[in-house]
Amino acid sequence: MSAKLALLKNNKSKSLAYQTSLSVNRAKIISGRTEIIRLSSNENAYGPSPRALSCLNNTKELLQRYPDDTYEALKEKLSKNLSVSPSKLVLGNGSSEIIQFIVNAFLTPDDQVLMSKHAFSLYRVLSEKAQAEVKLLLDKGWKNNLEDFVQAIGEKTKLIFIANPNNPTGTMLSSKELKSFLMKVPEHITVVIDEAYAEFITHPDYQSMVPQLAQYKNLIVLRTFSKAYGLAGLRLGYAIANEAIIEKLNLHRNPFNVNTVAAEVAAVALEDQLHIQATVEKNCIELMKFKQFLSLHNLSYIDSLTNFICIRLFEKTELVYQQLLKKGILTRTLREYDMADFLRISIGTKEEMDECKKALLTILKGFAL
Ligand SMILES: Cc1ncc(COP(=O)(O)O)c(C=O)c1O
Repeated sequence: MSAKLALLKNNKSKSLAYQTSLSVNRAKIISGRTEIIRLSSNENAYGPSPRALSCLNNTKELLQRYPDDTYEALKEKLSKNLSVSPSKLVLGNGSSEIIQFIVNAFLTPDDQVLMSKHAFSLYRVLSEKAQAEVKLLLDKGWKNNLEDFVQAIGEKTKLIFIANPNNPTGTMLSSKELKSFLMKVPEHITVVIDEAYAEFITHPDYQSMVPQLAQYKNLIVLRTFSKAYGLAGLRLGYAIANEAIIEKLNLHRNPFNVNTVAAEVAAVALEDQLHIQATVEKNCIELMKFKQFLSLHNLSYIDSLTNFICIRLFEKTELVYQQLLKKGILTRTLREYDMADFLRISIGTKEEMDECKKALLTILKGFAL
C-alpha cells in the first residue's frame, strides 16, 4: 500500500494521518495516458497465482452467505505452511487491520511505543491516534539500530514495531541480530516483527521469526497476502503469536472481518508456492538489473533486498516524481519518512522496468542541459 501523510490534530500534539496515494485514475488524468505503470505500492508485478485466480469463479455461490467466522479452512492451510497451530493465528482485512488490533490491544495514552523513523508509517499513524508516546529511532546504515532500541526501552515502553525487511528502506536485519535483540527485550513489552516482504528475501542470513514464537510469549509476527502473493486488492493479512496474545487481538476483531472471497482465494494461493518462487526469481533479476543501471548512471540508492528500492535524487526528487507521472509511471515520494531526497520505486516486470529506466534517463538528461 502506498500512502501520503497529512497533518491531523489530536488533543496531545500534531500527529500524522494516513492517506492513500495518488489513484490510478488521477494518474491517468494527469498524464493523459490510458495505461499507468504502477511502481508505487510494492505489489507483485506478476499478479496472483493463476490457480488462485481460477478459484475466483467457485466463490460466486458463496457470496449469498456470511463467511465462516472461524476461518478454519484457511487457518488450517496457514498452520501447515508455517508449522504453527491454528490457535496461534488471527486474520485481518490486510495486515493493516491487525496493526490496528495491536495498537488497540497494547497502547494507552500512558504508554510508549518504539519504532524506526523510517518504519512503515502506519505504525506511527495508529499509535499517535491512540495518543501513545511514539519514540522514533534513527537507523544506522538505513537499518533499524537494535542497540538503540534496547537503550530506548523505558518504564512506559509497551510495544516495539520492527519491519523485517523494512519498508521503505528495503534493508533487512539478520536472524542473529533479531534473536539477540529479542533476548534483551523484557517480557512485558510486546515486539511486533512485520514480515510483509519476507518472501522476497533470498539472503542467507535472513530467517522468519515465526519459530521464535515457541520461546517468546511477547512476540507477534505479521504477514500479508498483499505483496509476494499479489493479492493486495483482496485485503488479507495475518498475525502469528501465542494464544494469550491472539485472544487479546481477537477482542478487537469484528465478526466476518475477512470476506469469503479473500479467505477462499488465499487458501489456494498458498498452495501455489511455485508462483511465489517464480515471482521472487524474476524480482531478483529485475532488482539486480535496476541496481546496475543506477550505478552506471551514478545514481545512489539504498541497497534494497526486496521488491522496491529508494533512489537518492536530492532536490530533484519531486520533479522526477512529477515527470515520471507525466510519462505514466507512478512512483512514491517519502517526505513523511523524512526522506524527501529519495524516490521509492517498486520493482516491476522487465517491460515496466525498461520503460522506467528509459524515462529516468530522458528526465535526468533534461536536467543536465
Ligand atoms: C511493512 C508493511 N507492513 C504492512 C503493510 C500493510 O499491508 P496490507 O495491509 O496490505 O496487508 C505494508 C504495506 O505497504 C507494509 O509495507
